Amino acid sequence: MEPDEMIIPIACDHGGFEAKQALKKFITEIGHLTIDFGSHNDDSVDYPDYAILVAKAVGTGEYERGILICGSGQGMCMTANKVDNVRAALAWSPESAALSVQHNNANILCLPGRLLPVEELKAITKAWLDSSFEGGRHERRVGKIHQLTNH
Ligand code: RB5
Repeated sequence: MEPDEMIIPIACDHGGFEAKQALKKFITEIGHLTIDFGSHNDDSVDYPDYAILVAKAVGTGEYERGILICGSGQGMCMTANKVDNVRAALAWSPESAALSVQHNNANILCLPGRLLPVEELKAITKAWLDSSFEGGRHERRVGKIHQLTNH
């Protein structure tokens, strides 16, 4: 693996399936690897069943960062944030994606597969993957998020 290369668990429901297929290819093109936790077609499924797979993979520390896609991104984000050590962020722009890492140390990116063109989803994903946590004063604030639930 290259020094900055990450293996990124990725999952979707039927609302995010098409976007997931495009993003997997894109993520590989920009120098990372993906591991696909489903779903594997556009049959109707329940987003929590897929969110939990990526959230646990990241929350346990097995993987550094993950990506979840549903129609709006909301259900994936709400579910992922129930899991210990997860900070899932719903991003609608490259700027909001970058800030979610720089200031909030987001370790899961949630995307609205039905609400943005795939080229925008790619730009958001790249901005998120290219960003790093700034630490400093943000470290204390992120710590306070986890103090609320002791995890
Ligand atoms: C599925 O119809 C839709 O509700 C789901 O993809 C997601 O948008 C939920 O938050």
